[in-house]
Amino acid sequence: MSRDEIILKLKAGLKESRFKHSLGVMETSIILARRYGADVKKAGIAGLIHDCARDIPAESQLKMVENFGILLDDIEKLEPALIHGPLGAAIARKNFGVDDEEILNAVRLHTTGDKNMTLLEKIIFLSDYIEPGRCFPGVEDLRVKAFKDLDEAMISAYDSTIKYVTERESLLHPRTVCARNFILLHKRREGKA
Ligand SMILES: [Fe+2]
Ligand SMILES: [Fe+2]
Repeated sequence: MSRDEIILKLKAGLKESRFKHSLGVMETSIILARRYGADVKKAGIAGLIHDCARDIPAESQLKMVENFGILLDDIEKLEPALIHGPLGAAIARKNFGVDDEEILNAVRLHTTGDKNMTLLEKIIFLSDYIEPGRCFPGVEDLRVKAFKDLDEAMISAYDSTIKYVTERESLLHPRTVCARNFILLHKRREGKA
């Protein structure tokens, strides 16, 4: 499926605000990919498609998860907002014909993050945070950081996620904590933190 075909199909399946957000994430992913030397085409597709499952009603999401044979962990089962990552990857493959594993992983991990992420995965994760439509305290600092030092920006984004989740008394996925520690440990070993 071409990028334009993906755009048309997404437009039909997403709320207008989510569709705009997806275009924003695509734009930002492309700019960050240029900045850091990642595959610009892959970044655009991954950014565009990352929320393809986000607006599917919760009950249908769970049914689809079952039909696709996706195994959710206990936290994912209990926190509906976490399902659209893994489900989105399956839908991107099945309904949008995306077969690139790196793109699919970037979609899968864009909500929780993970340890040892690839450059593309980090770019999608951060673009989701800083695309032009995003507006929250600290977003400008995060935008600046994302273009200066990708890992520093990842840590700030994880901090922000952890704060957001705990303030709402939602469940924090352990992958997010592992992901944050992974980068910090690497920085310490390299003497940068
Ligand atoms: Fe998302
Ligand atoms: Fe998103």
